[in-house]
Amino acid sequence: MELFDTHSHYNDEKFDEDREEIIKATFDSGVAKFMCIGYNLESSKKAIEIAQNHENIYATCGISPNDIEDSNLDELKEIEELAKNPKVLAIGEIGLDYYWEKDESKREKQKEFFIKQIEIANKLDLPITIHTRDAYLDTIKILKENKVNNCGIFHCCPLNNELIKDGLKLGFYISFSGVITYKNAKPEEPILLVPDDRILIETDSPYLSPEPFRGKRNDSRRVVEVARKIAEIKNESLDEIAKITFENAKKVYKI
Ligand code: NI
Repeated sequence: MELFDTHSHYNDEKFDEDREEIIKATFDSGVAKFMCIGYNLESSKKAIEIAQNHENIYATCGISPNDIEDSNLDELKEIEELAKNPKVLAIGEIGLDYYWEKDESKREKQKEFFIKQIEIANKLDLPITIHTRDAYLDTIKILKENKVNNCGIFHCCPLNNELIKDGLKLGFYISFSGVITYKNAKPEEPILLVPDDRILIETDSPYLSPEPFRGKRNDSRRVVEVARKIAEIKNESLDEIAKITFENAKKVYKI
């Protein structure tokens, strides 16, 4: 069985002590490929560095809505240059986060960065990976008004049926994380909405460890727990979910 973790942050400082050890353990565990996702300028550079040192790790670069306060629009020129690296397969994570940002003018800044980074993705012919939290309507509105030529992924997709339906209609892939294993998560209906050819798995490590590891530092080895939960809900085998999500990941990232 081969697994593809479509969203992890091995560029995070939480891996500074044992990054190479964890990367080796990850590949030994049956994860055949994974993405290292940037969220600001520094982490994007780090993601590329890690990807360049490992054949089966790929990078994205972008400025996330939660990193916008410390970023300026000039940095997007640098993101665009970085994204020309052949190991960079998407722009992201980008989007809107109204859970953490309550200030209206700062939400406007999030929208501006989101739109400008969609433009970079289109210019470089790349897909995007979207972070959206408590911002369903504005996220969909921006995607409708700013067509993404190579579609992309709703990363750690909120378990919101309307968002999933709209995302699918716009051609996007839906990626589920360890959140679907949490007690009280109610993932059945959202997961069953997503057809086999649009579903992806991820860890978002070092965050969001699936059960029974909730609260501990997460890494890509645990993506199997996400696949297991989807298999259970879709009433398919774990092998089949691994295969489907692997093929989908290769397709969206054009590997
Ligand atoms: Ni993330």
